[in-house]
Amino acid sequence: MQIQSLSVVYDENITAVDGLDLDIPPGEFVTLLGPSGSGKTSILMALAGFVRPSSGHVFVDSRDLLALPPNERNLGLVVQSYALFPHMTVEQNIAFPLRMRNWKQTDIDQAVRQAVRMVQLRGYEKRKPGQLSGGEQQRVALARATIFDPPVMLMDEPLGALDRQLRDQLQSELKAIQQRTGITTLYVTHDQDEAMALSDRIAIMRDGSIEQIASPQELYERPRNTFVAGFLGESNVLQGTIHLTGNRVELETDAGWRLPLADASGAGDRHRVHAQIRPERILVEEDPMDVHTTAEVIDQSFAGEMIRLTVRVPSGEQLAIKRQNSGRTSDFQPGRQVTIGWALQDMMVLRD
Ligand SMILES: Nc1ncnc2c1ncn2[C@@H]1O[C@H](COP(=O)(O)OP(=O)(O)OP(=O)(O)O)[C@@H](O)[C@H]1O
Ligand SMILES: [Mg+2]
Repeated sequence: MQIQSLSVVYDENITAVDGLDLDIPPGEFVTLLGPSGSGKTSILMALAGFVRPSSGHVFVDSRDLLALPPNERNLGLVVQSYALFPHMTVEQNIAFPLRMRNWKQTDIDQAVRQAVRMVQLRGYEKRKPGQLSGGEQQRVALARATIFDPPVMLMDEPLGALDRQLRDQLQSELKAIQQRTGITTLYVTHDQDEAMALSDRIAIMRDGSIEQIASPQELYERPRNTFVAGFLGESNVLQGTIHLTGNRVELETDAGWRLPLADASGAGDRHRVHAQIRPERILVEEDPMDVHTTAEVIDQSFAGEMIRLTVRVPSGEQLAIKRQNSGRTSDFQPGRQVTIGWALQDMMVLRD
């Protein structure tokens, strides 16, 4: 699917989607991740035909989607609020797209049996949506959206209404179904863990356009700017200026802390920069460390598989540190002086 210069403008002045370009090769799973109001739903609604874009083209198998009425676009659509037909049973709901396409009854029966098995709802065929849990309803919606083997599936926070445990379980089922069917998928969430678990690529959205699109790992390891870095995972961000002496690059933070940097190419030609380091990349009392400093522990908290520390360095800046809870992790009570440090390349310079 190729989305070209797609714009959605509401009420003549609210630009929800701003000239979006996005090329999704067949079979790829792409997630739109971004804050509330960044235009995620508007993109999906424009593709599905429920909102009229003010400009753009969308090609699926070389036909221009936007020229077709919604019912001829042949897309699988799953939204947050199930949207099942309440008066129909599970199997009637799942069969609906095939009935609309005038399939033969025997073919419908066979496809529905297979779909019911795929979403693990055997025994529930005769129930109506009102007799199902949220997770079960969402699985019916998923089966209904994929049964006609659409070339593209659009999903808008399909797991948003479910609790954590059910969401994790459905996440893996969803991924398995997508991989088995190979349906090109455009997915929307504002849950970064979900996005990282499911996606081949994630597009970080801001104000109707893409800030950065890349694999989950690349986005996490090499965010282009502070917005992306802050949106995906936690990070310590220090503000300061860059100093070049010979071939050494240093950051001087606003509080006066001088730190060596591997390189400052991320800053372009700017002197004022943000430098970022992830909390799990800061080591405590370990040798050897490229960059190190003393620090005072000011807080220690337990977060299940992680222990979180907050430390204050001599310049006064505070850093968050995450340590694996290995069971042998030493105890760093507030007030304790420690040595912290990191590998040189783990601190990155970012644009605003
Ligand atoms: N029907 C509408 N009329 C006018 N403005 C709208 C309409 N729908 C959405 N908007 C505006 O367009 C922008 C994008 O909205 P959209 O629903 O696409 O965001 P979103 O990224 O899906 O947010 P969320 O994460 O909250 O679902 C917002 O500023 C919103 O207020
Ligand atoms: Mg939305």
